[in-house]
This record gives sequence, C-alpha cells and structure tokens, in this order.
Amino acid sequence: MLQLDKVSVDYGSFRALDNVSLHAKQGELVVLLGANGAGKSSIFLTISGLNRPKTGSIRFGDKELTGSKPSKIVHDGVVHCPEGRKLFPGMSVLKNLMLGGYVHRSDKAGLQRTLDEVFSMFPILKEKKDLPAGSLSGGQQQMVAIGRALMGRPKALLLDEPSLGLAPLVVNQVFDIIQRINKAGTTVLLAEQNAYAALNIADRGYVIESGRIVMEGSRSELLNNEEVRKAYIGA
Ligand SMILES: Nc1ncnc2c1ncn2[C@@H]1O[C@H](COP(=O)(O)OP(=O)(O)OP(=O)(O)O)[C@@H](O)[C@H]1O
Ligand SMILES: [Mg+2]
Repeated sequence: MLQLDKVSVDYGSFRALDNVSLHAKQGELVVLLGANGAGKSSIFLTISGLNRPKTGSIRFGDKELTGSKPSKIVHDGVVHCPEGRKLFPGMSVLKNLMLGGYVHRSDKAGLQRTLDEVFSMFPILKEKKDLPAGSLSGGQQQMVAIGRALMGRPKALLLDEPSLGLAPLVVNQVFDIIQRINKAGTTVLLAEQNAYAALNIADRGYVIESGRIVMEGSRSELLNNEEVRKAYIGA
C-alpha cells in the first residue's frame, strides 16, 4: 500500500498541497482528478522525492519514503512517469529506456530481462530502438516514457497525464496499456484530464482542488456524481 498522510507542500510562500491524505492498495488503479494547477503533479513529485513535504509522511508498504532520495524511492518500488514525457529527444529509444533501469545497473541479466518484457509489450519500440526518441510519433514517445518507467521495475507506477496531447485513437491504446500493466499486478496512480476514460479503468479516485482532496470514491460513485460529471466529464 502506498499512503500519503497529511502531506503539505509549499513553493516559497505558496501552499501547493494542504494536508493531502490518500492511498492506493496493492494492485489498485487509483485516479487523481483535478483542474490545471490543482496539485496533481505536485503530489507525484512529492511521492518520488523531487519535492520535500513541509509536513506529513509518505509510506510504501513497510518503507518510509518521506525525505528519501529519488533513486532510493525507485529502488523501493515506486516509479514516476512524469508529465510531458521528459525524454531525451536526441538520444536513441534504447538509451532512453536504459536510463529508467539505471538504479538496477549492477544486475545486467535482470535489466536485459526487463528490457525484453518492455519490447514484448511495445514491439514498435524494438523496431525503432536505434532511432532518436524525438523522431517517434507522440503516442510512441509516450510508450518510451512508460517503457522507461517500467525499466525501473515498479511495484507502484505514478503516471502523470499520459494521454496529454495524443490523438483519440492513440489515447485508447495508452489506456489499454495502462490497464494491462495494472492487471499484471502493478499498483497505478494515474493523474488525468481525460476523466471519463481514466475512471473507466480505475478502481477508485480522488478529486483535488487547490491543493486539497475534496472528494474520494469508487469508480461508480465518481462516475455517477453530479459535480464530478459537470466539472470533469462534461455530461
Ligand atoms: N516549482 C513551482 N514553483 C511555484 N509554484 C509552482 C511550482 N510548481 C507548481 N506550482 C504551482 O502549484 C500549483 C499546483 O501545480 P501542479 O503542477 O501540481 O498542478 P497540476 O494539477 O499538476 O496541474 P496541470 O493539470 O496543469 O498539470 C499551481 O498553482 C502551480 O502554478
Ligand atoms: Mg500536472
């Protein structure tokens, strides 16, 4: 179980997260819904050790993540696939993928096995492994970003707006992939603007507004909630 307990984060004098408590049980797919600037990415940056919480704690299973280095957090099984993909466009697809496996670099055989798994999940990336990542289509670049995160061998995967900027058909493919990763046993925390598609594959979700959790519910509770429908689904 991944658990945030009363986490607050400040950027200078601005409180970006205020007493955020949330959790994802092992194997769950949990969605974070919120408008632009609500604090979704701040939650992910804080879990992955790139932001330091002012108050509160973050735990994963029996491990205390609060204040740990980002590389230690990956070692502990929590891997972040950032908003906007953050690939190295001039580097090959293969090199981008291998960066995600950096924390496991002493385990060469294990890395090769993980790479083979990533290539079997994304055959197109095997075909294009020697091309610069920046030459791929948007959807393929998102596959590189997800593949790179998988190279870290996540037990819990944090996906920040993976469908952003993709064509509708490609969005469906990305959601299929996320569902497959989750069904194979990986816990997923997913931030999405595409609320309807995200809720459809989710077990539960949270709504965040101005740095606060304002609602929590199961997939059906959120899908059927009037306010959620008005604000995030538009129906
Ligand atoms: N490094 C920073 N310094 C100052 N303010 C920041 C910083 N990063 C984010 N913020 C502010 O914190 C708030 C939360 O931002 P965050 O990026 O977490 O939101 P978000 O829900 O991910 O939004 P989006 O949907 O646009 O990705 C926003 O008001 C944003 O302007
Ligand atoms: Mg964001």
